[in-house]
Amino acid sequence: MDVHVVRHPLVEDMLASLRDRRTPCDVFRQLAHRVSLLLVAEATRDLSLAETTIGTPLEPTMVRRLAARVVAVPVLRAGLGMLDALLELVPQAQVGYFGLERDELTAVARRYYGKVPKDLGTASVFLLDPMLATGGSAAMAIEGLAELGARRVRLLSIVAAPEGLAVYTAAIDRELNARKFILPGLGDFGDRLFGT
Ligand code: PRP
Ligand code: URA
Repeated sequence: MDVHVVRHPLVEDMLASLRDRRTPCDVFRQLAHRVSLLLVAEATRDLSLAETTIGTPLEPTMVRRLAARVVAVPVLRAGLGMLDALLELVPQAQVGYFGLERDELTAVARRYYGKVPKDLGTASVFLLDPMLATGGSAAMAIEGLAELGARRVRLLSIVAAPEGLAVYTAAIDRELNARKFILPGLGDFGDRLFGT
């Protein structure tokens, strides 16, 4: 699988604030949204277009409109922090949800919820999960999507550890710690996003 690290000065700057422990929850949320906009723009670069004719105020002209059917699947909870960015750029996207939670001791993911649109095989699926640590949650989500027929899946993450790579991400960090948290990372994304 291909890994795309989105290198952009704006992304770097936002990441710096996301990592900063002093960044409060409301600003963290805003930054997660903004950085996700840039990731979505990059990850949707090759979506298919179809030609059609419209009329400008002056004359008919050929234009190209998005032809791909897009399905966004945020991984609860933290992936919700990326969903609005995808919907802002692709408002016609359908949305599904996977609820996954890592065991605090073993870091093994467990699925507690899943609901996705039908006919995933004809869709470009964007899996949204800001943290890719061991890759266990991502692998479980991708397997779940594949079992439901998805053939084109892209994972958008904000910080990835080298141990779990195969995605569009804004940064590949140094390593995981003994508790399988990403270092330097930005902590528990869900807790910071929801102020818990
Ligand atoms: C976090 C994060 C990912 C997962 C990454 O979720 O949002 O889903 O950990 O870790 P992995 O790559 O080792 O599987 P968490 O289980 O903390 O749930 P939350 O989003 O509800 O806080
Ligand atoms: N999940 C998080 O929210 N942060 C990490 O560093 C690893 C998993």
